[in-house]
Amino acid sequence: MRVGILTGGGDCPGLNAAIRAITRKGIQEGDNILGILHGWKGMITGQHEELTLRAVSGLIHRGGTILHTSRTNPFKEEEGGEKVAATFKRLGLDALIAIGGEDTLGVAQRLFSEHELPIVGVPKTIDNDLSGTDVTFGFDTAVSIATEAIDRLHTTAESHDRVMVVEVMGRHAGWIAVHSGMAGGADVILIPERPFDLDEVSEAISSRHARGKSFSIVVVAEGASLDSKNVEGLVKQTENLDEFGHVRLGGIGHFLAKEIEGRTGFETRVTVLGHVQRGGSPTAHDRILATLFGVKAHDLVREGRFGMMAAMVNGRISEVTLEEAVKELKTVDMDLFQIAAIFSG
Ligand code: F6P
Repeated sequence: MRVGILTGGGDCPGLNAAIRAITRKGIQEGDNILGILHGWKGMITGQHEELTLRAVSGLIHRGGTILHTSRTNPFKEEEGGEKVAATFKRLGLDALIAIGGEDTLGVAQRLFSEHELPIVGVPKTIDNDLSGTDVTFGFDTAVSIATEAIDRLHTTAESHDRVMVVEVMGRHAGWIAVHSGMAGGADVILIPERPFDLDEVSEAISSRHARGKSFSIVVVAEGASLDSKNVEGLVKQTENLDEFGHVRLGGIGHFLAKEIEGRTGFETRVTVLGHVQRGGSPTAHDRILATLFGVKAHDLVREGRFGMMAAMVNGRISEVTLEEAVKELKTVDMDLFQIAAIFSG
């Protein structure tokens, strides 16, 4: 078979491990593997390169994606779906494996259902917000990076008797915030799923300090926002939307730090972790998960089971339909958030 692979949306650690897995397994089974460059953009322009064993050698530990990525949405172009179908034909593809999050896989789902293209998905994103799978690869690495940052901020916070606000990514889901906040022993965790109240946050910090603590760590997800009493909405970096209609989040940490300092009188500093969470080597967990998802996706291609996505379901490698994967965002399990709250303050 002639099988294409593309990576779309924000990059994350583990993409290269998945590309390597699909390529090695495919070549072993006699397939030709084509790397489509720059995500869905490459399925419009046709930019590609052949993936040989040599091309994927030494990749398992490397962050980023050798295929490059983009946030191109072919359905934003006139006849975009038809253009992708034409590239499919021109490149002689029998199947395409799209590695991505909700946007990339949303396109995959439409191309499968509206244009009958033989596509299989692999779930990746640091945000862990994709339905149909317990977990996406990239998430564990992002949580590890954020946790290490919180550990480091603890020691400097303690030395200076400061409040440290750490802003983490995750878009409209608080998974990175809850996991890194729990692992790092944060005193306050703020997530998009639960609008926060500035008085409550300040009160929690003040009462902690009244009990003799001289510092506090606040983890805030970039998509967290104030409750209806203080409607300010999301803090954004720009009013522009991307091709999938997403806002570019970022800045809530600075807003929050100013408010906390003003309300509590405690010296407060901010760290915005930003893209550091997406860079560098994947954890062992993400390397293995990406490899298992890659192998499973190639199995699905071989079995002709298109319109499916490799997934982790109840701890086992399995598959779900792309339709199920993209139908809604997977937001934080509030039971987990309640457990995290036991350790707050
Ligand atoms: O979806 C991954 C993610 O890192 C989000 O957590 C974040 O909001 C967004 O991508 C940032 O996008 P960009 O890389 O385009 O700035």
